[in-house]
Amino acid sequence: METTTQSQTYIAKTIAGLEEVLAKELTTLGAQDVKTIKRAVSFSGDKKLLYETNLWCRTALRILKPLYSFPASTNDQLYKSIYDYPWENIFSVDNTFSIDSIVNDSSFSHSHFVSQKVKDAVADKFRSINGTRPSVDIENPDIKINIHIYKDQCDVSLDSSGESLHKRGYRVAVGLAPLSEVLAAGLILLSEWDGKRNFIDPMCGSGTILIEAALIAQNIPPGIFKKSFSFMNWKDYDEGLWKRIKTDATGKQKIFDGLISGSDIEARAIRNTRGNIISANMQKVISLQVASFDEFKTPEGGGVMIMNPPYGERLEQNDIVAFYKSIGDTLKKNCKGYDAWIISSDLNAMKFIGLKPTRKIAIFNGPLECRFMKFSIYVGSKKDQYN
Ligand SMILES: C[S@@+](CC[C@H](N)C(=O)[O-])C[C@H]1O[C@@H](n2cnc3c(N)ncnc32)[C@H](O)[C@@H]1O
Repeated sequence: METTTQSQTYIAKTIAGLEEVLAKELTTLGAQDVKTIKRAVSFSGDKKLLYETNLWCRTALRILKPLYSFPASTNDQLYKSIYDYPWENIFSVDNTFSIDSIVNDSSFSHSHFVSQKVKDAVADKFRSINGTRPSVDIENPDIKINIHIYKDQCDVSLDSSGESLHKRGYRVAVGLAPLSEVLAAGLILLSEWDGKRNFIDPMCGSGTILIEAALIAQNIPPGIFKKSFSFMNWKDYDEGLWKRIKTDATGKQKIFDGLISGSDIEARAIRNTRGNIISANMQKVISLQVASFDEFKTPEGGGVMIMNPPYGERLEQNDIVAFYKSIGDTLKKNCKGYDAWIISSDLNAMKFIGLKPTRKIAIFNGPLECRFMKFSIYVGSKKDQYN
């Protein structure tokens, strides 16, 4: 087992399109050797950093701790290499566990089979030492073992987070198509909102973007609502260190006296948002109203607006064109001084906004490839601004 200050490599998993944002978050936390890879960022640091990344990273889905790697092309090699590892030093026979396997381009064709084999080897190892074995729990295990087999190489990691970090714990009500909290936070960080100017979501749904903005503005870690992380079940868990990290976080909180405002055409959506805001205890910093975007009174002074309009699955083609066109008209008419960012998977509909985007970022919302586009709505004409 490593000591508190011993450095090792970790892998933070994220959504495709947020790798750079996550790399920046990790660097700010003091991570070393930060490298972006596909849907993940590798970095090195000590146990304190591992705990801090779980608490503070807004755009990480989970943090993996690689344990060891070995060549595996046969069932026997896989079983033996897992069996030989000292699992009894990692967790106790009283903990429940589960195995997550991903297999690519390998002699093993079924990840489910690999998981079974690894589970048997871990259970048999405990039985050989204790005469009894830990139970498997697929839903809510104490310990998650991650297996990645690519060609004939098997990498074994421990998932330090457990439940995905996007499940912050504040969401008590959801409407149709809510954004993942990790994606919502990623969009805000990509927008480069400074946490001071007005922040608006005029199609707020269940309020995910608003709550993530409120957390960012007050420098509150997104992991503050979570009761447990998987690393708390590891034998090397340092409870004192975790408590100190949480106390430090409370001391870093900032007072926010700007404006975060949300609206939605549906009264039910605003009710859901209100429930979530109360659950996150953000009611002092977020204001809400029921309004359609075209009648929403945009606060004076400019700022940042992020919206996640319906993508069109429920709208006819003609309605989509008219809807996106009306968004563009309202932006031009009512939103002077705002940087308006729109996320949509409907690239065709986005053309009907009728404004030239000043930035376009490819990003995934679940399986949907989206564009996150920035429209800068100048106060005078664009020509005036340059003059
Ligand atoms: C995809 S959902 C937004 C989900 C939200 N980002 C979340 O995380 O929960 C789109 C929202 O736009 C709202 N909406 C649709 N047309 C609107 C309009 N003209 N003005 C304001 N809101 C509208 C819908 O009621 C819906 O709640």
